[in-house]
Amino acid sequence: MKEQILELSYRIYALDELPEESRKLVDAALEATRRSYAPYSHFYVGAALLLDNGVIVTGNNQENVAFPSGLCAERTALFYANAQYPEVPVKALAIVARDSAGKVTQAPISPCGACRQVMLETENRFGKPMQVLLASAEEVIVVERASSLLPLAFSEIS
Ligand code: THU
Repeated sequence: MKEQILELSYRIYALDELPEESRKLVDAALEATRRSYAPYSHFYVGAALLLDNGVIVTGNNQENVAFPSGLCAERTALFYANAQYPEVPVKALAIVARDSAGKVTQAPISPCGACRQVMLETENRFGKPMQVLLASAEEVIVVERASSLLPLAFSEIS
């Protein structure tokens, strides 16, 4: 028997400490929450991607009365980016949410399992790390690669 220990290293920045490029991405994610369609949860999530060509793509959660038909902000943005720019790696992904009162959450929100799987695939597809920024009202957690958020991930059965 062997035991493996997995470690996750990440940094926590105050908003005003963030590098300019990251700050811009968080602002784009925040702006995207304003276009989210969340009449059922009243939880407005925004995601912004920085592509390798400098383009910023945003997405937000899109809900549906048939609940499972909706989609998280992260996957909305990633699928759009991969549909429009299939050859361009994604360098960074910022996520932020506002609650039903319109306030940015006190704690950073973290992507669901399904989004992590899609983030991982995007990273693997381009063979380049995708930095993940989880923003809140006061601080931002920065993880250097999406794969750290999904240890022992599913991959093709051989
Ligand atoms: N949601 C996201 O868009 N991203 C996340 O990381 C977590 C949850 C959405 C799904 C649903 O529309 C709402 O937030 C409440 O769960």
